[in-house]
Amino acid sequence: MAVYPGSFDPPTIGHLDVIARAARAFEHLTVAVVANPQKRTPYFALDEREAMLRESIGAASANVRVDHFRGLLADYVTSLGADVIVKGLRFISDFENEMATAHMNRSLSGVDTLFLMAESSYSFVSSSLVKEVFLEGGDIAKFVPGPVLARMNHKRTALGGTPHVDLPRHR
Ligand code: PNS
Repeated sequence: MAVYPGSFDPPTIGHLDVIARAARAFEHLTVAVVANPQKRTPYFALDEREAMLRESIGAASANVRVDHFRGLLADYVTSLGADVIVKGLRFISDFENEMATAHMNRSLSGVDTLFLMAESSYSFVSSSLVKEVFLEGGDIAKFVPGPVLARMNHKRTALGGTPHVDLPRHR
C-alpha cells in the first residue's frame, strides 16, 4: 500500500495526475492530508481539503482512499503498515528538499519514498500560485478540478471578499 501525503491546499490538476498515476502503480493508495507546520495560514481547513480530494477523485479510482493525519508522516505510515511513500516532483529544485525529507522518513520509519512526475504541462501548477491567481481575481479553472473551483468560489463568497492568506513561494 502506498501513501501520497501533502497539504493539498487546494488540490490541483497536478495532484490529481499524480494520484491517477500512483493508483495505476499500486494496488492500494491512501491520499493523506496533513497540516504542514511550515505553512501556517492554510486557506482551507483539513476537513475541507479532504472533502475536495474525495469529490475530485470521485468513483474513478476504486483503490484510492482519502485520509488525514497530524504529526509525523513517519509515524502515520508506520501505523498504516504502508510499503511506500509517493511524492510528486515538478522540477529538479523540488528534489533537493525532497531528498533530505525522504532520507529522514526512511530513517524514522524504514519506508522508502518513490517520486512520480505529473504530466509536464502541469509542472508550473502549484497550490500557492493557484491561490495567488485566484485571490487576485484570475481564472484558475484550468488548474484545479471542478469541485475545487466550486469550493473556492463558495469560500470567497462566504468570506465576503479576499481573506488574508500567507502565500509561500513553493507549492
Ligand atoms: O504538499 P506539501 O506541503 O509539499 O507536503 C509536505 C508534507 C505535508 C508531506 C510534509 O510537510 C510532511 O510530511 N509533513 C508531516 C510532518 C512531518 O513528518 N515532518 C517531517 C518530515 S521529514
